[in-house]
Amino acid sequence: MSTDDRATLRRQMRAKLRAFAPEVRMRAAAGVARQLDQTGWLKPGLKVAGFWSLPYELPMLIAQVGIEKAGAQYFLPILHADQTLRFARFKAGDAVRVNRFGIPEPLATESACTAADLDVILMPLTAFDRQGNRLGSGGGWYDRTLAGSTAPRRVGVAYAAQEVPALVPAAWDVPLHHVLTEQTCLACQPFSAP
Ligand SMILES: Nc1ncnc2c1ncn2[C@@H]1O[C@H](COP(=O)(O)OP(=O)(O)OP(=O)(O)O)[C@@H](O)[C@H]1O
Ligand SMILES: [Mg+2]
Repeated sequence: MSTDDRATLRRQMRAKLRAFAPEVRMRAAAGVARQLDQTGWLKPGLKVAGFWSLPYELPMLIAQVGIEKAGAQYFLPILHADQTLRFARFKAGDAVRVNRFGIPEPLATESACTAADLDVILMPLTAFDRQGNRLGSGGGWYDRTLAGSTAPRRVGVAYAAQEVPALVPAAWDVPLHHVLTEQTCLACQPFSAP
């Protein structure tokens, strides 16, 4: 898949997602929270990174509440100077700052950790296939962050409608272990805890 194909698919998929009705978004948000609960992963003390959903992305707020309710810890990504992501604890109501992409990140960074310190990382997707290949937003942030590490469990979060038959991964693309949609939790690649 060429760079042009990837750019075209990103544009088409975003246009499709932007057209979803508000009730479709909220139903999907509730569905993903339910699917995450049913995985059985959520345990007290588990470190789970999520993300601050962009307007066209599946809203993470209901899943976030479920994660906290299970006693697990919710983290949000923070842009780091080395062009990778760090992750800091975040609870609803905590202070945030808007980063250079216009995405809020936790202001308090005492709890900031690297991806390897997390148990589960929930990532936004633009598109995915059943093999766990992911198309993100094109910045390579998640690929750089996860390059060469076995931890954590890598989970994409997407509407079921974001599935495509096959993505051809680039050399640097890091595949997903699972994809969580409003309908199911797909197992794509085997995961063994490090
Ligand atoms: N491990 C890496 N080392 C160096 N550069 C990388 C690495 N991973 C990704 N990149 C760079 O990031 C760019 C964008 O990658 P890609 O198109 O896979 O983005 P993406 O997976 O959609 O984005 P994201 O990971 O932010 O969701 C690539 O063109 C590549 O130059
Ligand atoms: Mg990639």
